[in-house]
Amino acid sequence: MNAIETMDLTRKFGSLTAVDNVNLKVTEGEIFGLLGPNGAGKSTTISMLCTIMKPTSGTAKVNGYDIVHEPGQVRGSIGIVFQDPSIDDKLTGRENMEMHADLYNVPRDVMHSRIDEVLQLVELEDRASDYVNTYSGGMRRRLEIARSLIHYPRVLFLDEPTLGLDPQSRDHIWSYIRDLKKRENITIILTTHYMEEADELCDRIAIIDRSRIIAMDTPHNLKEELKGEIIILQTNNNDRLVDKLLETELADSITEINGELNLKVKNAHTALPRIVELAVSNSVYVDSISIREPHLDDVFMHFTGREIRETGGRALTGMGARIRGSLK
Ligand SMILES: Nc1ncnc2c1ncn2[C@@H]1O[C@H](COP(=O)(O)OP(=O)(O)O)[C@@H](O)[C@H]1O
Ligand SMILES: [Mg+2]
Repeated sequence: MNAIETMDLTRKFGSLTAVDNVNLKVTEGEIFGLLGPNGAGKSTTISMLCTIMKPTSGTAKVNGYDIVHEPGQVRGSIGIVFQDPSIDDKLTGRENMEMHADLYNVPRDVMHSRIDEVLQLVELEDRASDYVNTYSGGMRRRLEIARSLIHYPRVLFLDEPTLGLDPQSRDHIWSYIRDLKKRENITIILTTHYMEEADELCDRIAIIDRSRIIAMDTPHNLKEELKGEIIILQTNNNDRLVDKLLETELADSITEINGELNLKVKNAHTALPRIVELAVSNSVYVDSISIREPHLDDVFMHFTGREIRETGGRALTGMGARIRGSLK
């Protein structure tokens, strides 16, 4: 059975379509990522799947229950960690857990052992009697994850689970998520705008841009689809070299990130000597050259013609439009 299946799931806010005919299936036990920039429609998708918001059209099944017609059953079978923290500062960690357990009618006799179990999973058992206002951001996030698991949900929704956390806390959360999958055999659907996070954690990823799914596959296959390598060049005149490159077919796409040219080529061994030759014959000095495998950033750029975050990078060729046209 699919843990989640959406059928033309759509949500409009006035004239704005925030989620546009999304169709996806998540298999039981999978960690599935919704990857996309801010405003892409990730949180709105999650809100509909969690029955917090009604679709404008289309629907979805979560654990076999219809989100429009059986919202109660959906809610009882899922756990949610929202993008915005929703934990009570004036209670202790354990009190927060107990309140949630009551809310979900977890029987008293199993409640305490379950609370211990999930607190242990996120390594908070020693701090459980402390007030939450003494917790760090990472610890609050961990408590929210533990809390969402109390009623043994079969599907867990994590909306931007590591947003704003330092790298160490982020690594912790990643390992808990991996652990969870192993120990509880739970299906996890998470949203993120961090490429690395999607790459590290997810079995499959749907890339969402401007309210639509533009690509969906395993991280490996998404990168494989780029079929090639990235040559990174530092030169004394990027603009002139780009002008000349555009007259050739040496690079599939060209982007400039932090002053460096990133050239996507099919084969770096054959392309590199010709690119250097082109530079030399046009009096462009090349200061450094390196070659790397494509990252998910390159995949996003490939499908959209834009960078996922605005880091000052610019796409210098219009791959996005062409590729998008060929997607089903
Ligand atoms: N309650 C709302 N009312 C009006 N517009 C909204 C509302 N919620 C989200 N939006 C808009 O819908 C789009 C998608 O938002 P959201 O789903 O939060 O994106 P993401 O989570 O990918 O950053 C954005 O343009 C956002 O401004
Ligand atoms: Mg969001």
